[in-house]
Amino acid sequence: MATKLTMLGIESSCDETGAAVVRGGGGDWDDIGGGPSGDRPFMCDGPGEILSNIVIGQDALHAAFGGVVPEIAARAHVEKLDFAVTAALEEAGVNLADLDGIAVTAGPGLIGGVMSGVMCAKGIAAVTGLPLLGVNHLAGHALTPRLTDGLSFPYLMLLVSGGHCQFLAVQGPDAFTRIGGTIDDAPGEAFDKTAKLLGLGYPGGPAVEREAKQGDPGRFVLPRPLLDRAGCDMSFSGLKTAIRRQLEAVTVDGAITAQDRRDLCAGFQAAVADVLVEKSRRAVLAFRDLTGDPGHVRFAVAGGVAANRMLGNALSEMAAAHDSGLIRPPLRLCTDNAAMIAWAGIERFAAGTVDDLSLAARPRWPLDRAAAPMLGSGKKGAKA
Ligand code: KG4
Ligand code: ZN
Repeated sequence: MATKLTMLGIESSCDETGAAVVRGGGGDWDDIGGGPSGDRPFMCDGPGEILSNIVIGQDALHAAFGGVVPEIAARAHVEKLDFAVTAALEEAGVNLADLDGIAVTAGPGLIGGVMSGVMCAKGIAAVTGLPLLGVNHLAGHALTPRLTDGLSFPYLMLLVSGGHCQFLAVQGPDAFTRIGGTIDDAPGEAFDKTAKLLGLGYPGGPAVEREAKQGDPGRFVLPRPLLDRAGCDMSFSGLKTAIRRQLEAVTVDGAITAQDRRDLCAGFQAAVADVLVEKSRRAVLAFRDLTGDPGHVRFAVAGGVAANRMLGNALSEMAAAHDSGLIRPPLRLCTDNAAMIAWAGIERFAAGTVDDLSLAARPRWPLDRAAAPMLGSGKKGAKA
């Protein structure tokens, strides 16, 4: 019997309230003896079909604070989740009875928000009797190239956003090896803090990129943290401190010129890109060692910082120069959304594992359980 799974996804781990319906996976379950009722794991391949993908942002609620305020975020999720789920079902043209399961982000993230989503999903599961799947938010990001491009395992992923920064070898729906990551701030967080220092709005990434276009990246000498250290770990908090010092040096009567601001943005962006590109180059080599395959590496990038055009171009060039191809899912699927959670739920369901109503929200939840914990913990919740 050919069966496609229809999955509701719910996301509320940071500052986006998301609900989505995705159809995919499946195949001839009975032929291969796997699938949701089968007795052995079955990996489903993408791409999936996104029937709806509702994302309600909260930027306006947090703008005055220059970052996400956890309590405000959690309250906004509680207010918007019911609406988001109803809208997602309506837009997809499906009823609860058409669903095969409910996937929800169960961590890592801001705990109040994660709990709001988990409670909402549990409520629907309790009423309908549908299977419940707690999804790791980072797995949602990491599996997105399978939803969008049907990428097959294994591939290399750079997750780069306001709360996360890590290189992962993605070898299966629940098989991730962390190759490196930030030891302090995530790059998006550094973009946001730099924007705040320079009096630009929140979120800072797009504003800094806009200013940088007319700036001279060479005018201010900024560090390239950890480039002198072997491996793929990164650090971005020192860069923000360096920007503050340079800013103080050019401040006259409490103000800087428009060109100072542009040059500081260009210098900062170039420093972040240099670090990410060089560490990505090393990650490609490390990935080859890990998989034992010296051939073409499929290198995917996700997270809000992947929206940065200059960084994307630099990563593409590096990939091409090292017999690799860069896969960039559409931006709305690179940033936080519930379609990626629904898809990760489909992959888990197809592999034969579900949760019950005892599912707990987890503030920390590393994808690679064997890797040593990272030190950093940023404004957007714990890095895992
Ligand atoms: O993935 P995302 O929507 O949320 C999480 O952090 O999980 O990423 C948001 C981050 C913000 O820090 C924002 O400043 C950054 O992505 N960002 C950018 C750009 N657009 C968004 N950073 C650099 N350049 C951009 N164009
Ligand atoms: Zn995220």
